[in-house]
Amino acid sequence: MCGIVGYTGTQQAAPILLEGLKKLEYRGYDSAGIAILSGDAITVSKISGKVDKLVEKTEGGRNCPGTSGIGHTRWATHGAPTDINAHPHLSNDGRFAVVHNGIIENYQELRDELLAKGFVFYSETDTEVVVNLLELYDEGDVKKAVMRTASRLRGSYALGVVCTDEPGCIYAMRESSPLIIGIGVGENYFASDVTALVSYTRNAVYLDDGEFARISAEKAEIFDSSGTEIRKKISRITWDVQTAEKGGYEHFMLKEITEQPRAIKAAIDPRLHGREVTMDDLVLSDRYLKGLKKILITACGSSYYAGCAGRYAIEQFSGIPVEVVLASELRYGNALIDRHTLMIAVSQSGETADTIAAIREGKSRGAKVLAIVNVVGSTIAKLADWTLYTWAGPEISVATTKGYTTQLTVLYLFSLYLAKRIGIVSEEKYNRMADALNALPRLIQESLDMNPSIPRIAGKYHSFRSMFFIGRNTDYAASLEGALKMKEISYIHAESYPAGELKHGTIALISDGQPVVALCCNDFISEKTASNIIEVKARGAKVIAVTFRDNQNILSLADDVIYIPRIETELSPVVEIVPLQMLAYHVAKENGCDIDKPRNLAKSVTVE
Ligand code: AGP
Repeated sequence: MCGIVGYTGTQQAAPILLEGLKKLEYRGYDSAGIAILSGDAITVSKISGKVDKLVEKTEGGRNCPGTSGIGHTRWATHGAPTDINAHPHLSNDGRFAVVHNGIIENYQELRDELLAKGFVFYSETDTEVVVNLLELYDEGDVKKAVMRTASRLRGSYALGVVCTDEPGCIYAMRESSPLIIGIGVGENYFASDVTALVSYTRNAVYLDDGEFARISAEKAEIFDSSGTEIRKKISRITWDVQTAEKGGYEHFMLKEITEQPRAIKAAIDPRLHGREVTMDDLVLSDRYLKGLKKILITACGSSYYAGCAGRYAIEQFSGIPVEVVLASELRYGNALIDRHTLMIAVSQSGETADTIAAIREGKSRGAKVLAIVNVVGSTIAKLADWTLYTWAGPEISVATTKGYTTQLTVLYLFSLYLAKRIGIVSEEKYNRMADALNALPRLIQESLDMNPSIPRIAGKYHSFRSMFFIGRNTDYAASLEGALKMKEISYIHAESYPAGELKHGTIALISDGQPVVALCCNDFISEKTASNIIEVKARGAKVIAVTFRDNQNILSLADDVIYIPRIETELSPVVEIVPLQMLAYHVAKENGCDIDKPRNLAKSVTVE
């Protein structure tokens, strides 16, 4: 995924674009660039590396004068992160410049066609075909050239375009990649998401697929794919700047970990009143629910792991079989989906291409889709039949934390909702679960407060090259996310493994000093996991146990213990993951890693 931004108005554009790119840098950060309309020329400045290097190269934007322009921060898909492959890209005649987020799937055939017509390519990117198509179709009408170019493209794109024929104008085009227009006073903007706009304006227009805009300082004209001007609603951005900033924390990740009690409260408050669960955003008829044969949860990465953890509660409270399928696998597998299937798509960004593809696949087979997303107005929210927002607030760190725990909280709320509607649990159990959810913000805070030893534990294990995370049932589900956190920010190869499965081969990897994180927060089977701890200890492992504060017998088994407050077993993953987030954070810090922007990653992967 990449971030694009555009500005036109009366101020110097470059400093505003650079500021916007800093806010979008979490979307991709291996190169950056800006293109500024100045007189009848376009000034392009771009460089591999983070936005700070571009700020330095452009002297804070001072050496790129002009009041209209576009900018880009890249997560490389086609072509290595080099200066040449960085966006913006110029047309051969130098009159058009383009920035792009997405993938042009038919770029090779377009490149061959343009090469045959005598165009020259300088980069390895798919994007360069776009800027040369604009030149090819330019007959003195930029809007027409934009439309004809869009008609040739297949794939996903959010595009920003400037042309020397229209000084003061910036164009924005959207197909399957997010693009938002910011409406200011005497100035207007576009950006990949609201975090780049909220410092300047709270008035936003969300472009839909196939739409494009011609934006000047005075107005933003929006057109459908036929070129007809259309009226769009102006939405109010509710996120505040402070929320999107670090707020004094060293890293966004630490801020977002500590925000979890508040974020989870925001997810619960509108839906749980005492023990009554309400889901006004959801209209599931009794007939539909009675006809449900299966729930299929689909997602990627941590969102997939949230589904793996949430399925236990949904199955136990509703009696409906739950399947959790990786979105990137769903369309190539033979997941049995029909109109008796409820698909739940889980996504923080709401823009993950694999999950979008899975939703389309599910809908094509007759399933209704419930989305659980954080970003309001995102593509997945628009595609779904119903949407439950997680209300976590902006999540900037690439490694998700509050995104995951709020998703899981909404899944638990949904399981209680089903229990109320068609449930198979006793009222006593239902009430216990509802009480546990009401207590969740406090329990999360306690799990943050009760482990001052985590930095010390991180200091003991940070230099190992591999780590195991083991558990059974709900503990295994939590270990999946715990291992991913460790991998993606500390670069230690961490493997989640079902504790009962180790003895069937993998235990051969346990040798002297091997760190093993053992999750023991499932009362029904923690004795079994305790025996797995003994097994690995007998082979020299160093065990970090995660367990309830009152589980003293683990003390004699483990080398280090991380405690969590007691909670109903079905809900334990949402609490036991919190100290594992902190453990990964402190290990990564010990290793000097770039915690908020880990190498090779991006916040949302909008390519398949
Ligand atoms: C989480 O730490 C990762 N950054 C990644 O696995 C992420 O969860 C995945 O890409 C899905 O993103 P989404 O929730 O925005 O769909």
